Amino acid sequence: MIGFKFLSLFLLCLLSSAFSIPIKAPNKFPSSLISPEKISLLSTTQNNKLYRTSYFTQTLDHFNFYPKSYQTFQQRYLINDTFWGGATANAPIFVYTGNEGDIEWFTQNTGFMFEIAPHFKALLVFLESESESCYKVIKGSWKQIKDTANKPGGAKLLRKAFKLCEDYEYIADYLENWLSTAYIYTSMTDYPTPSNFLNPLPAYPIKQMCKAIDNPTTGNDTFAKLYGAANIYYNYTGTAKCFDLDDDSDPHGLSGWGWQACTEMILPTSGNTKESIFPASEWHYSGRVSYCKNVYGVEPRRNWITTEFGGFGIERVLKRFGSNIIFFNGLRDPWSGGGVLKNISRSIVAIVAKEGAHHVDLRFSTKEDPEWLKEVRKQEINIIAGWISQYYHDLAHLTS
Ligand SMILES: *[C@@H]1O[C@H](CO)[C@@H](O)[C@H](O)[C@H]1NC(C)=O
Ligand SMILES: *[C@@H]1O[C@H](CO)[C@@H](O)[C@H](O)[C@H]1NC(C)=O
Ligand SMILES: *[C@@H]1O[C@H](CO)[C@@H](O)[C@H](O)[C@H]1NC(C)=O
Ligand SMILES: *[C@@H]1O[C@H](CO)[C@@H](O)[C@H](O)[C@H]1NC(C)=O
Repeated sequence: MIGFKFLSLFLLCLLSSAFSIPIKAPNKFPSSLISPEKISLLSTTQNNKLYRTSYFTQTLDHFNFYPKSYQTFQQRYLINDTFWGGATANAPIFVYTGNEGDIEWFTQNTGFMFEIAPHFKALLVFLESESESCYKVIKGSWKQIKDTANKPGGAKLLRKAFKLCEDYEYIADYLENWLSTAYIYTSMTDYPTPSNFLNPLPAYPIKQMCKAIDNPTTGNDTFAKLYGAANIYYNYTGTAKCFDLDDDSDPHGLSGWGWQACTEMILPTSGNTKESIFPASEWHYSGRVSYCKNVYGVEPRRNWITTEFGGFGIERVLKRFGSNIIFFNGLRDPWSGGGVLKNISRSIVAIVAKEGAHHVDLRFSTKEDPEWLKEVRKQEINIIAGWISQYYHDLAHLTS
């Protein structure tokens, strides 16, 4: 209903960034996303019983005719019918189309749906699917890490500075990936209240990171500053004994993304140093191909995503073939750069929040929510209410 699919897609984009690692370093996704300490993120939902879990016998692939595609699997879905007005009342169904991981985990970031369901008498279904000085410090630091790693005894020094659990052979690459992950995901979840989506974080975690970097007691010790920043993302709970850059645990079940990113979701991402704090990176399709062959034994279908969804002139495509979508983007979310930021038609609406982060609008509301966030949610409710009353109007007045 609310462009959930696209919100999911943006998360997909974000996760793909973890792939811009040199091929010689082992696959760091999703380990780099996950903190060493294993916190049970699901406990809240399990205790509160927000939904019932069910399974549906689903066709493996609806889009080809090979006999293998007729196989079925048990697709998990979560359902809450407490507020539903029922089919005879034509009450709406809000469906969350799922992301690249455990649906229970993602559902924790969609509390807004539970909050608006009573108002709309909706059935809820969640499907599983497969400028500050601190930036300058980050921007000089990549070279410093590389230089240090290349010096005799440098690897030991880096291990000590970042409290790593062991020596790593490609330490500069590992650290680059590990630190980038912390910066990217903290920006993405720069929420105005304390949160626990990817990792437990304080309110406005980017501010906290910058505070750690600008901490005067670290003087001009760049590594101490970066360690302080990484500590916000990887050790906010204070329980990490050391940092394991090799950790390949996957508590949110996100590993399916690696397969998608190697088959039909080829998303080229590159970057330059002029406009970002990150090291320059160039996209090479051949690098992706050899990575995918190594890890999964498959070669990607490079152009499938645009063949299936269109993509050249996405505005034109949406205007002609879409309706009733809200694209919410928070500009603090690095992935908003790939988002729909302009209104496209009367019912395809872009809501852009300068201070917002990755689908912050979908999260449970809290007492500390800032005014702009309350306004965004109000606006979304009004837009959805408009769609629904238009639908009822058509139902009553159109004969077929
Ligand atoms: C639906 O969610 C509400 C909380 O919004 C909860 O109180 C209720 O028990 C849930 N219903 C089911 C069937 O899980
Ligand atoms: C770093 O600080 C030390 C003393 O605290 C000083 O001697 C050195 O010149 C400083 N280096 C830079 C690059 O500012
Ligand atoms: C994690 O935080 C705690 C508390 O601040 C600290 O004692 C510990 O050394 C930190 N762990 C790492 C690996 O830095
Ligand atoms: C899109 O239109 C809505 C009104 O329907 C407006 O509130 C919103 O600011 C517009 N979005 C942009 C990005 O201009």
